[in-house]
Amino acid sequence: MRIVSGMRPTGKLHLGHLLGATEQWIKLQNEGHECYFFVADWHALTTDFQKTDAIPENVREMVIDWIAAGVDPNKSTLFVQSQVKEHAELALLLGMITPLGWLERNPTYKELRQEITDKDLSNLGFLGYPVLQTADVLVYKGEAVPVGLDQVPHIELSREIVRRFNGLYGSIFPEPNAMITETPKINGLDGRKMSKSYGNAIFLSDSEDEVRMKIKGMVTDPKRARRQDPGDPDTCNLYPLHEIYSTDHTLSQVRQGCTSAGIGCVDCKGMLLPTLLTSLKTIREKREELGKNPKQIDTILADGAKRASALASETMKEVRKALHVF
Ligand code: TRP
Ligand code: SF4
Repeated sequence: MRIVSGMRPTGKLHLGHLLGATEQWIKLQNEGHECYFFVADWHALTTDFQKTDAIPENVREMVIDWIAAGVDPNKSTLFVQSQVKEHAELALLLGMITPLGWLERNPTYKELRQEITDKDLSNLGFLGYPVLQTADVLVYKGEAVPVGLDQVPHIELSREIVRRFNGLYGSIFPEPNAMITETPKINGLDGRKMSKSYGNAIFLSDSEDEVRMKIKGMVTDPKRARRQDPGDPDTCNLYPLHEIYSTDHTLSQVRQGCTSAGIGCVDCKGMLLPTLLTSLKTIREKREELGKNPKQIDTILADGAKRASALASETMKEVRKALHVF
């Protein structure tokens, strides 16, 4: 299958990104699918056009984290969206056939317009976010798009755009399918969604001591106000991490100990830390090594852009011909 996915350049990755998205990319890549993974730097401009100077650093940090976590530039094509101009050309053309109503009805759009009050979002670029995202996938004729649940409306819109396009100009594009990650949802230290802006994230770049301190301060099941109160792993903020990092044996010990108040949350955190730290250590060492050689990342991205362009330009030849434009 041909897989396409992108991520906005938010800088260093945290555990939420790793477990929610990057691990799935790695799995698909290692299953032998043809993968195109890119940094959506143009998409960052849709909300943050007023301040763009941090983008290059954020791109670099993110790509370092991808590779450190196991995204392999020899197996997957890694690149930066703005290095493949065909994305923009296709977005322009798709914009011609996308009704405003489809964009205005988009639930993600409506939600963000409501939620984000400190940014000016009354722009064509922001309204057209899903059109650019559609172009990102179609320019490679992507068949499957690994994304989070919040992105499903965007993929639905992509499918509608494809149907309209193919109806007008002939069957050029496959309808892309969303692939949703099945990993348990990882919340931040305070129980809200893990996010850099909430200050509740564990970063792949955090030192062992930082991770220890953060886990120590992580909120657990609110019913366990005192040590002797039994808890419920299913409403505990920490337990999903156990589900990912601990063995079945530890999991049953935790469940038994928690529900009977046999263990305290401090003990429980102590049972998680060794495996969590070991797994993060491998990534941290790799990212430190990659950070020492900035040229290497540039080369990887330039290489990726070249490979991506080769395919994108083939698609655009077909598209231009179908629309009778140059
Ligand atoms: N909108 C996606 C997000 O915020 C990022 C993205 C941009 C994307 N283009 C894409 C994801 C194409 C999948 C395919 O997470
Ligand atoms: Fe959560 Fe473990 Fe505390 Fe139970 S014992 S509430 S699973 S941290």
